Amino acid sequence: MASLIVTGGRPLSGTIRVSGAKNAALPILAASLLAEGAVALYDCPRLRDVENMLAILRALGVCCSWEGEALLLDPSTANAYVMPQGLSKELRSSIFMLGPLLARFGHAVCTFPGGCEIGHRPIDLHLRGLAMLGVEIREEHGLILCEGRSMTGTDIHLDYPSVGATENIMMAAVRAEGETVIQNAAREPEIEDLQAFLRKLGYAVTGAGSSTIRICGSHALGAGEQPVGCISHRVIPDRIVAGTLLCAAAVAGGEITLKNAVPAHVASVMAKLREAGCTLSAEGDTIHIASCARPREIKLIETLPYPGFPTDMQAQFFTLCTIANGTSMIVENVFENRFKHGAELLRMGASFTQKDRTIVIRGVERLMGTRVVARDLRGGAALTLAGLAAEGETIVENAELIDRGYECFDGMLASLGAEIRRKDTE
Ligand code: UD1
Repeated sequence: MASLIVTGGRPLSGTIRVSGAKNAALPILAASLLAEGAVALYDCPRLRDVENMLAILRALGVCCSWEGEALLLDPSTANAYVMPQGLSKELRSSIFMLGPLLARFGHAVCTFPGGCEIGHRPIDLHLRGLAMLGVEIREEHGLILCEGRSMTGTDIHLDYPSVGATENIMMAAVRAEGETVIQNAAREPEIEDLQAFLRKLGYAVTGAGSSTIRICGSHALGAGEQPVGCISHRVIPDRIVAGTLLCAAAVAGGEITLKNAVPAHVASVMAKLREAGCTLSAEGDTIHIASCARPREIKLIETLPYPGFPTDMQAQFFTLCTIANGTSMIVENVFENRFKHGAELLRMGASFTQKDRTIVIRGVERLMGTRVVARDLRGGAALTLAGLAAEGETIVENAELIDRGYECFDGMLASLGAEIRRKDTE
């Protein structure tokens, strides 16, 4: 158990480098199973979700080690297709292993995945996509048993542009005979990064970043004509970490500069921060934000698949709106149960009403520090931001949830001048 203890009222200042993206790293780690030789990953964040994914890979026989900045993976020793049950329940992204396991072994066995409690998060789109490639799927005693020794490429139209389903299908389809076309594919930057990695492995994948992705697959091992020697890949910067830090500056006040950011990936977030009265500029991989005295209200934030406003930034903007000068509205379209931070913010003096997926927030001049509990990863980050703006001391309990998505969140904020410390308890 861990808590973050924040004393509010300190404006932020300074420069900080954004880490590699968790949501890009996790599917790439799964895809490493599709490499024939060694892989060196750079900028892979050292997060609990990543360590869990590495533990899953090790259980399947992959050699994984951190060597300085690089994460080295050698999948040539992989020898199992049954996912370890306990670890799979810890991590929703364990579901990403289905596609690569099927591609590599023709079989995969996994449990229904765990992860943050943000809605039902079914996996029907993943399973339906794999079934369309010819995978036979059975459920037995809570296990999902997949057999896909003769997958065949086909047209798959997703009912919804699910990020995970798009990635899983891409990874399975590299070994399906013939062409697979994914229509209504998710367009997130992390999918482009997965495509870049698969292409380095020699697979013919095109279209990521658009709604139509094409994969030319082949049953034959080595058909991808993989390059000889170690394949190296640098994970893209984390747009949610970047967005959270920008939001922190908007909430706490002050001026900060982000390095290793991709401004295009946070365009929707930057637009909303400008609406709140912040001044932002971007050049190359640098973003600068100067906040105003008190944020202005944001008329409407609607979470949507990329390039729309990210659901993973909803909680942080919820915090911002609680102290805005006016009334803001947030509609959460992506997940049905993602307002748990609201109840905690109420305890800090926030004022809002909720109807179904819509929140109307009347900004108050000041939040009051108190003891609050993180219920999920982004909600925990949002409560920490609330602590930056609150009067007195805020204690965010369950802070280990924040570790799932931020490398030393307290250290990042402290380096920008926040008064924050961490307390670990048994
Ligand atoms: C990914 C991100 C997560 C982000 C989310 C939406 C990773 C590791 N995680 O999660 O941080 O919040 O995208 O941007 O990349 N759905 C179904 N059936 C399915 C799959 C999804 O109904 O088979 C629904 C989900 O319940 C949810 C919506 O589709 O309501 C979006 O989910 P999806 O895009 O799949 O998100 P994840 O890949 O789980």
